[in-house]
Amino acid sequence: MANPLTFTVNQRPDPVSDEDRAAILAKPGFGKFFTDHMVQITWTKDDGWHDAKVTAYGPLQLDPSAAVLHYAQEIFEGMKAYRHADGSVWTFRPEANAGRFARSAARLALPQLPEVDFLASLKALLQVDQAWVPDAGAGEESLYLRPFMFASEAFLGVRPAAKVTYCVIASPAGAYFSGGLKPISLWISKQFSRAGIGGTGSAKCGGNYAASLAAQTEASEHGCDQSVFLDSIEQKWIEELGGMNIFLVYKDGRLVTPALSGSILEGVTRKSILELAKGLDLQPEERRIDIDEWRQGAESGEITEAFACGTAAVVTPVHRLLWDGGEVSFGPSDDAGPVAGRIRQTLLDLQLGKVDDELGWLTRLA
Ligand code: COI
Repeated sequence: MANPLTFTVNQRPDPVSDEDRAAILAKPGFGKFFTDHMVQITWTKDDGWHDAKVTAYGPLQLDPSAAVLHYAQEIFEGMKAYRHADGSVWTFRPEANAGRFARSAARLALPQLPEVDFLASLKALLQVDQAWVPDAGAGEESLYLRPFMFASEAFLGVRPAAKVTYCVIASPAGAYFSGGLKPISLWISKQFSRAGIGGTGSAKCGGNYAASLAAQTEASEHGCDQSVFLDSIEQKWIEELGGMNIFLVYKDGRLVTPALSGSILEGVTRKSILELAKGLDLQPEERRIDIDEWRQGAESGEITEAFACGTAAVVTPVHRLLWDGGEVSFGPSDDAGPVAGRIRQTLLDLQLGKVDDELGWLTRLA
């Protein structure tokens, strides 16, 4: 096995001033501002992973023939760094993200970055940019971490690239949706599928998100925040939203989410909610869910709440489901329902260090 990588650090001479950074952290939005530095590591077929560095955040130099620009050989992760009350900085279940990153890499014929180097890359960035982690507040403020890997070899043939670049960038984050905790509305997309059997649906690759965008446009045109994707064969079984997993809450305490079918992203938040459910007096179920079960259950009152979940979305309540020819509303329109609210608070309390980490899900970054 290769030795763990060591990172050289080139601090930028012109970091953002304390005053400008404070203004950004006061109102970060999502994905709009970036920290002073980034991590970059190179992989080549001959030399493996090498040249690990922390360097100034800025444009990458890429040959116009770089394979990623043509064949989308790319994967990424979404994680967050949280500041605890004592000033320390932590992340949530990084080994789960490292494992998924390795599985995504295998599916996209990219090299695997060892878990130890994946974790070291986050720590290396946080060593220099920890001032960018917002103070623990009442909300969900954090520093969003985006590790990604792409084919950087300059070559137009279709084969796995012999040169690959891995980076980590970081972006201070508030709520993903501009309405914050205000429940969102969803559009059932019948025209487009996100993924199919044997495809890349369970990998976290840019191509899946590109494939979701036409449906996202369709959803926006109908006044909705996200689209719900159904299976590509029968157009019947719920899979996930454009960028997050989905849970339904039943009035008898069942908490149901679509089973991982090979075309659904294995969300770390999804998995954590399933593992926390029993402790919250809920009965977790992973199974196929017919879209008509949701429509009819919401109409009859059998389904009382629904929520989207993901690293970026945390737990975002859903209030309306729309489709070509109809719609149904359920749960509160201005706030999370009681179950979604409780799950969201349980997760955030854990991530922000407000309760004991009995499950050992947190790893210190700085
Ligand atoms: C995440 O939740 O981290 C994602 O990558 C989803 C994306 C919509 C931001």
